[in-house]
Amino acid sequence: MSLLAIEDLHVEVEGKPILKGVNLSIGKGQVHALMGPNGSGKSTLSYTLLGHPKYAVTRGRILFDGKDVTAAKTHERARAGMFLAFQYPTAIPGVSVANFLRTSLKAIKGDEGVVKTFRKNLREKMQQLEMDEKFASRYVNDGFSGGEKKRLETLQLAMIEPKLAVLDETDSGLDIDALRIVSEGINRLASPERGILLITHYQRILDYVKPQFIHVLVEGRIAHSGGPGLAKELESKGYDWLQEKHPAEAA
Ligand SMILES: Nc1ncnc2c1ncn2[C@@H]1O[C@H](COP(=O)(O)OP(=O)(O)O)[C@@H](O)[C@H]1O
Ligand SMILES: [Mg+2]
Repeated sequence: MSLLAIEDLHVEVEGKPILKGVNLSIGKGQVHALMGPNGSGKSTLSYTLLGHPKYAVTRGRILFDGKDVTAAKTHERARAGMFLAFQYPTAIPGVSVANFLRTSLKAIKGDEGVVKTFRKNLREKMQQLEMDEKFASRYVNDGFSGGEKKRLETLQLAMIEPKLAVLDETDSGLDIDALRIVSEGINRLASPERGILLITHYQRILDYVKPQFIHVLVEGRIAHSGGPGLAKELESKGYDWLQEKHPAEAA
């Protein structure tokens, strides 16, 4: 059984069709990358997986761990084990990173067990990610650089240890050191029990994170899927050769 099964997914944003029949299946232990040109619907897919109310599923369904979550609320999905980066993209003044992480862990896993081990767990995870201890007492995303936001997401991921991680554009705005650390965080998270969907426009992060499967989204559909070699092919050929296969749909 797939951990995540996306079946014939059609999604509209404000009445405009964006996803036009996406099929994608992710098994436990698998790392998939979703690539594609700007505007092809990658972020729409990640927001839809998150359960964002603005993204309306008009056809198809999303199964997680065998259960239909198409209509589930965001917090229900999180409790079931789905993690979406960018859940809290805005600054939260007055809330420290440590408190934010403690609160999100409690909300997802319940109070018991979280509080006692939290400090130790946080310290360990921050060391693994080569993060300064001071980071824990800063306010969430308040004056954070792009790289620091990504580090917070990676830390959140490491603390929550979800069954499925969906990471959108994790490499944007990262310098090479931050990219390496975030990639190592993702690689450390990969396990036989877990699925990872890495959504990216750029091939660069795939030098560090090695997906077994790569899919290319074009005009709201998966136009092409392949193995790890597809990343290099896209790097040299770009996306145009895939778009040309769908001339009738090019905007
Ligand atoms: N919240 C939104 N409001 C209006 N239009 C949106 C919204 N989200 C996405 N879109 C539109 O959906 C299309 C796909 O965008 P997006 O999913 O962000 O693509 P990608 O992440 O691949 O660059 C674009 O035409 C974009 O303008
Ligand atoms: Mg996007």
